[in-house]
Amino acid sequence: MTDRKKVTLPYLFEKVHNHEPITWLTCYDYPTAYLMEQAALDMILVGDSLAMTMLGFETTLPATMDDMIRHSAAVRRGTPNTFVVGDMPYMSYQPSVETAIRNAGRFMAEAACDAIKLEGGVEMADRIHGIVNAGIPAIGHLGLTPQSASALGGHKVQGRAAKSAKKIIDSATALEQAGAFAILLEMVPDRICKLITERAENCIIMSLGSGPHAHGQLLIYHDMFGLYPRFKPRMAKVFGNAGEVILNGLKQYVHEVSDKSFPQPEHWFTMKDEEYDELMALL
Ligand code: KIV
Repeated sequence: MTDRKKVTLPYLFEKVHNHEPITWLTCYDYPTAYLMEQAALDMILVGDSLAMTMLGFETTLPATMDDMIRHSAAVRRGTPNTFVVGDMPYMSYQPSVETAIRNAGRFMAEAACDAIKLEGGVEMADRIHGIVNAGIPAIGHLGLTPQSASALGGHKVQGRAAKSAKKIIDSATALEQAGAFAILLEMVPDRICKLITERAENCIIMSLGSGPHAHGQLLIYHDMFGLYPRFKPRMAKVFGNAGEVILNGLKQYVHEVSDKSFPQPEHWFTMKDEEYDELMALL
C-alpha cells in the first residue's frame, strides 16, 4: 500500500478552499481500487452503474443493496485511504426516510464507506436530511439522474431551458440546506454548473460532463479506459485503451496455446526424479 494520509471531509474542503480540483472516479473492485490508491485519487464512487459496467444490464436499476455492499467492501479493501462513496441503488431510499437511513447505514457498517450518494432534487431533501442527522455524510446528484432516465426522456443533457435550469439550481439549494456536503451535477450546461458552484456556501460541487467550473471532476472508469463496449458518452475522455490492450493479450493467449508456444518451462512446476521414480513404483 501507500503511505499517504486518509482523505477526509476536512481535507476535501481544504482542497476547495485552496482552489485545488478534487479527483473522483467510479470503481467497483479490489484490484482497480488498489491502483487508484497508488494514483493518489481523492474520491471513489462505487456507483450503481456497476449494474451496467460489471454485470452487463442495460440500465442501473437492477443493482441491489447486496451488490452495492459486496462491491463497496471490495473497493475498501483495495484502498484504505481514498474517500469511498457508496451509491444508493434504485428503491433503496425512494420509499421512505427510514428506508434511506437504514440502507445508508449498511454502506457505513458493512463496507466501511466514508459517505453515500443518492439521486434526486428537492423531493429527496428529506432523505438527505435524515441520513445526515443519522451521522452519515451524504452527496446529492442532480441533472441527469440515471435511475430516472425513463422519466427524463433518456440520457439527455438536463437544464438547457431556463425553467428546467432554475429547478436544478433550486434543488441544489435544497440539498445543501438539507445537509449534503457535496452535490454531483451530471450533464448540465457548464454555465448552470458555474452558477451552482458560485452559490454553494458549504457544499462541494462536482461535475460529470458539466464543465470545468465545479470544485472537482468525476468520470466513469470503464469509459475512460475503453472498457465499456455499448457506448461512449461525450464527456468521457479516453485516458488509455485498456480494452484494446486486454483484447490483444487475449488473442495472443489463444494463439500461443493453439500453436503450443505457451506454456514454457518457466510456467510449470516439476518434481524430483527420485520422488517420481518412487511414485512409479507405487502405481
Ligand atoms: O452509478 C454511477 O456511476 C453514477 C454516475 C453516473 C454518477 O451515479
